[in-house]
Amino acid sequence: MTDDKATKIVVHADERIAQINPNIYGHFAEHLGSCIYDGIWVGTESSIPNESGIRIDVVEALKKIKVPVLRWPGGCFADTYHWKDGIGPRGKRPVRPNIWWGGEENNNFGTHEFLQFCDMIGAEPYICANVGSSTPQEMMEWLEYLNYEGDTTLTRLRAKNGHREAWGFRLLGIGNESWGCGGNMTPQYYANEFARFATFANYPGSFFLVKIASGANSDDYDWTRRFFETISGRACGCKQSRLPLLRGFAFHYYCGTAGTATKFNEAQWYELLEKAMRIEEILVRHRLIMDDYDPQRRIELICDEWGTWHPSESSNPAKKLQQQSTMRDAMVAAISLDIFNRNADKVTMANIAQMINVLQSMILTDGPKMVITPTYHVYEMYAAHQAGASIPVRIKTTKISTKNKTLDAVMGSCSLKGNKLTLSIVNIDPKKYADVDVEIRGAGESSLTRWRVLTGDIHGCNTFDDPDTITPVDKPATDRKLLLDPASINVLTYELGNS
Ligand code: AHR
Repeated sequence: MTDDKATKIVVHADERIAQINPNIYGHFAEHLGSCIYDGIWVGTESSIPNESGIRIDVVEALKKIKVPVLRWPGGCFADTYHWKDGIGPRGKRPVRPNIWWGGEENNNFGTHEFLQFCDMIGAEPYICANVGSSTPQEMMEWLEYLNYEGDTTLTRLRAKNGHREAWGFRLLGIGNESWGCGGNMTPQYYANEFARFATFANYPGSFFLVKIASGANSDDYDWTRRFFETISGRACGCKQSRLPLLRGFAFHYYCGTAGTATKFNEAQWYELLEKAMRIEEILVRHRLIMDDYDPQRRIELICDEWGTWHPSESSNPAKKLQQQSTMRDAMVAAISLDIFNRNADKVTMANIAQMINVLQSMILTDGPKMVITPTYHVYEMYAAHQAGASIPVRIKTTKISTKNKTLDAVMGSCSLKGNKLTLSIVNIDPKKYADVDVEIRGAGESSLTRWRVLTGDIHGCNTFDDPDTITPVDKPATDRKLLLDPASINVLTYELGNS
């Protein structure tokens, strides 16, 4: 039953990488398909239980995974969005075509509804401003509406629309995918646009804004270099650097096209996991370029869209980007979150795409029905890592030879909060158990207090009729010798004696 070669895991509890920013466990919701409408917003008249139009079942489920931050309104949609369309009495809001994702946008879910939703689930809002088809003026007015505390026409309008107080909103994205749907800009052009918008985001009441640039598409390192070359002033040999305007740089990375969401073979299981693992090299290479321009490492690396993007299984255009989430997607989530944890000294936010009904979602809905996906369970199990200190973990394990590469069978990450150590480890082999020996160094006595496992058939998924096919179970937490199930995601909790 076990493989002949054992896996040895050494946790260095007396070393630190950095604190894991909880925002690494962030999410993204766009006006796309039924992510917002039906997924979050059903309206006050709906027979689906809601609070001020927001689904209660979804809110309750999301509270359990401790969503730290939510990005909105896009995605591509953000660069067509005009915030004033989404305030005031709902019946009077304009209806416009959704040029990226089809259908019409009735604007029933706008600024107030989004911020209320964030409040209900306990998430910090991260708003992406329209750069591609708008002006700094429109962004400034939105910031005034959100954050200004004085008495102005816009703050009076805010009060009239039901919110007297300023929100004190903090995380501002300046455009989305500027190299593509955000305006097909060159990195040099976008760097200048970024600086222009970021300058005017220094609006009274908004001095504390964290300004985040739209970064490269996956491994486009050239884009990153040219952006930094321009914004730092090196390209023009200028003395003036505009780097101080920038606090975060956000790249995107999707993996997919290895079969479909539910139809894939074992080779495609590995192919997708291998693509997921690539994010480590990608973020390391982006950070190396950033180090060249920002040697003090003041600028944070963010991945504000990531996840699986499978070829569509639906003929309905409205559901084109809606996909099932199987055990394979859960494995992608676990591998990626472990990579972000291990790079916590540079990566400060990551937003999986997307929260509900779109791509690698946490939740699927159909009218009043709701089901939580295997990916959701990974977020719930891994929530223990949020705000912990990332601890180095070295793993010696068996190798798996795939068509393209040799992969480690077991990988993971570790964090420490007080005397509670959380070790997450995956066994990617869909057939073999992994015999694992865990050694915790530099912490005196330690005892395993809990072992949770998410496992199942590699095609296993949760459906409305069968919602608990893939669900975590507890295993007896006995000693350091562990036998990991094939295709399993494991979260181990240890109590340390001398932390
Ligand atoms: O998440 C779906 C889309 O993917 C987003 O709108 C866009 O930013 C990206 O290309």
